[in-house]
Amino acid sequence: MAGTKTLTMIKPDAVRDGHIGAILNQINEAGFRISAMKLTQLSQADAEAFYAVHSERPFYGELVEFMTSGPIVAAILEKENAVEDFRKLIGATNPAEAAEGTIRARFAKSIGENAVHGSDSDENAEIEGDFHFAGREQF
Ligand code: CMP
Repeated sequence: MAGTKTLTMIKPDAVRDGHIGAILNQINEAGFRISAMKLTQLSQADAEAFYAVHSERPFYGELVEFMTSGPIVAAILEKENAVEDFRKLIGATNPAEAAEGTIRARFAKSIGENAVHGSDSDENAEIEGDFHFAGREQF
C-alpha cells in the first residue's frame, strides 16, 4: 500500500521570489495536510547530507551551493498516495517539461532552480521528514 507522507522543500529561488503563499495554497487546494513546517536555511553540511545520493553527479556542487543560498520552507505533507500525487502536483524536474498548471511550470526557472522538492519514495519521505523535523515537531 502506498504511504501517506511526503517531504517538500520550497527552494531558495521560490522563497526569494515571494512564492511561499501561492505554493502552500496550491498544496492545500490539492488536498494535502501540513503536519510539520518551518522556514530554515540549510548549512553546507546539511545540504551535502540531504543530497548525498547525488554526490557523484556533475551538478552536485551547484545543487549544494543553490540549496544553501537562502532560506527554504521545509514541510511534511500528508494525503493518501502522497509521494506520487505530490510529484504529479509539482511536475517534471525540468520546468520546460512540467505539465501546465503544475507548481514547477508556474514557478520554476530551470532544472536546478526548480522551486520545490518532493520525496521520490515512501522510504525517502520518512528519512527526509526525520532529517528536517524532530518527533515533537511532527503533528
Ligand atoms: P530535487 O527534486 O530537489 O532533487 C535533486 C535535485 O537535483 C533536483 O530537484 C534538481 O533541482 C537538481 N538537478 C537535477 N538535475 C540537475 C541538473 N542537470 N543540473 C542541475 N541540477 C539538477
